[in-house]
Parts: sequence; C-alpha cells; structure tokens
Amino acid sequence: MDAARGDDSSNLPRNLVFKPIGIIATLAALRNICSGFSLVGRICSAAPLHDLRSPALLPILHSMSSSSSSDSTPLSVHLPVLMREVLRALDPQPGQIIVDGTAGGGGHSREILKRIGDTGTLIGLDRDPMMLQLAAQKVQGDNVHLIHASYALLPQVLQDLGIAQVDGILLDLGLSSDQLADRQRGFGFAAEGPLDLRFDTSAGEPAWQLLERLNEEELATIFKEFGEERFASQIAARIVETRKRKPILTAQDLTAVVTAAVTSKRSDRQPATRVFQALRIAANEELGQLEVFLKSHLQDFLKTGGRGAIISFHSLEDRLVKNAFRDKHRFRLLTPKPVIPAAVEQRANPRSRSAKLRAVERL
Ligand SMILES: C[S@@+](CC[C@H](N)C(=O)[O-])C[C@H]1O[C@@H](n2cnc3c(N)ncnc32)[C@H](O)[C@@H]1O
Repeated sequence: MDAARGDDSSNLPRNLVFKPIGIIATLAALRNICSGFSLVGRICSAAPLHDLRSPALLPILHSMSSSSSSDSTPLSVHLPVLMREVLRALDPQPGQIIVDGTAGGGGHSREILKRIGDTGTLIGLDRDPMMLQLAAQKVQGDNVHLIHASYALLPQVLQDLGIAQVDGILLDLGLSSDQLADRQRGFGFAAEGPLDLRFDTSAGEPAWQLLERLNEEELATIFKEFGEERFASQIAARIVETRKRKPILTAQDLTAVVTAAVTSKRSDRQPATRVFQALRIAANEELGQLEVFLKSHLQDFLKTGGRGAIISFHSLEDRLVKNAFRDKHRFRLLTPKPVIPAAVEQRANPRSRSAKLRAVERL
C-alpha cells in the first residue's frame, strides 16, 4: 500500500493538520447506512442508522487546515465535469455558505470559492484524505474547511462547525481521475496493487477481502444489484472456483477472472467494467450513503431557497436522485431533464460522458 495514502495520519506530511472534531463511527454503524438494500442487509449488521456513536471506534472525521498541503503533493489531474452547468444550478453568491460534499481535487470548490468570496464559507468534504490534500492546493483561506468525512455525516460536520443551514450543497459522485490513476488502490483494471477500491482505507472492508469472504450467491447478488451485470452468476462461480486455487488479490487478477467467465465479448467496453463498479459500490456502501443524504440531509440542512446539485455517473445513483428530487413538497425541480455535458466537453473529457446533473431548490 502507498503509505502516503494510507489511513495512518502519522504517515502524512508534517504540515498537514488532522484535528479530530468530535465525530467517530464504527464500521458496523456505517455499514448500517446501506441496510436499506436487500443485499447489504445480509452482508452488513443490522443496527439502526442513527447508531453512529458506538464505542469500538475509528476516528473518521477530521478537520484539516486549508493551507496545509505539502509542496510535494502533486496537482490533481481530475477535470471537473459540467462546471458551467453546476455554477448555474448552484448560483453561489458572495457571502454564502456552500458545502462541496465530494471535494475531490477541489476543481468545483475553487470556482465556488471565487464566487462566494472572502465573506462566504466553503465546506469541502471527502472520504479520501489524499483527495483533501489535493483540494487544499486549490482552495485556501480562513473561510475554507476541508474535512475528512462522508457527506452522509453532514449533520455532525455542521454541528461541529456551529452552522445550522447552508445555501448550497454539491455532490459530484463516484471517483476522481486521481484515484483511478493510483495503481496501488485497484481502481483501474490494470492496477497491480491490492484490489482495495475504498475511498477511505481506514473504514470498511477492501474489495479483495469481499472476494475472499462472500459466498457465490452473495457475490452474484452484488454484481447484479450494484453492477446490473448480465453474467453475474457465471462470474461469481468463476471467482469461487478460482479462489480455491489462488487468492484474487489485485485488479489484474480480477480482470483476468472476469474476462475468462464472460462469454460475450463486446469490443467497446472492458468486460470487467460492471464488476469493478459493483465491488466499489459495495466496498464503500455508496448507495446507502446517498440514500441517507437524499432522505433527510438535503432538506434538513439547506435553507429555504437554497440549492442542491448532484452529478451522478450511473443509473443506480441517478435513479435515487431523480426519485428524491421529484418530491414537490420539499423541492422545486430546477432540471426537468438531467443536464449532460455538451459534445465539446465529452470530446475533451471522455470520462464526462456518463455524467448527469440534477438540481433542486429547497422549498
Ligand atoms: C468525482 S470526484 C469529485 C471531483 C471534484 N468535484 C473536483 O472537481 O475535483 C468524487 C470524490 O468524492 C469522494 N467521495 C465518494 N463518496 C463520498 C462520500 N460518501 N462522502 C464524501 N466524499 C465521497 C471520492 O473520494 C472522490 O474524491
């Protein structure tokens, strides 16, 4: 594992300040965030959602000095998607408080900060401390809070900052090009490091361990529910058969197993695409976190007239967003149809092709 990206803050550069701000959660409690899904309900334990303060704890929230990025930190290579459209939807104004719930490399955050100015407040969250280091290179100032936390923990984050409600919230879901490019974390098909796939390596179970621990039926369910993978059963069977002989530890190992199991060879896509997506969603409990956010946080923590904007990258996420935004009692829909990148952006940044932006105003 790349120590600079690990979970131990002692490995981080000295000028990074990680300051616990009071919220701690167990893996078990976080897992319950996803218990609304039949599959995860079986894999995860069943304690209630609000049980985020149990004793056997991992510190997961840290506040980080916004000017704390090391000189040696490389610049983010991620190209923020739908920038103009996001700014139009959020419409950030001087003096406003805006949450970037998935700060990533700080691309969107930087433009938001320019608009809210010195009198505004930017709160940038990310589950991946490495991404916060990158974001800290782009957004700095006393009015910037970069915090190691999931957006699912927004209530606790705002409470610790003494903020009741905000003017805008952005989520740009999924993973960044910086994470994809890190060959030690398993996000890319050819990565040679351990198949981890977690945004936050201090919480949850790495994907290689899921591949080792889950039975054939559970694996097939993950591939079906989180990847909509047509060959889910064949792939699960091949994994179980392979792991009897040798463990599947890297992205390369998994890609080889899936390629061997899939009978139809579509030339336009790597056959393991959906399996990687499914495992990443499972390892990070991504849909459960999004559900919690959509069910309560967006309504509870946006001021009346505040804006929420969410960019999703696959149909499972988009479906949840679309359904939540339809609620006419809570929101005014600003995007009757999802906003997609213009052809020129899609050409310049092929990763933007599957992006869909939806936005609402809080009533
Ligand atoms: C597509 S990138 C965001 C890029 C960012 N908008 C930019 O312009 O650089 C998504 C980021 O969300 C983070 N992330 C994923 N799930 C999260 C969650 N539940 N809470 C906070 N951050 C999350 C990932 O670690 C990743 O850095």
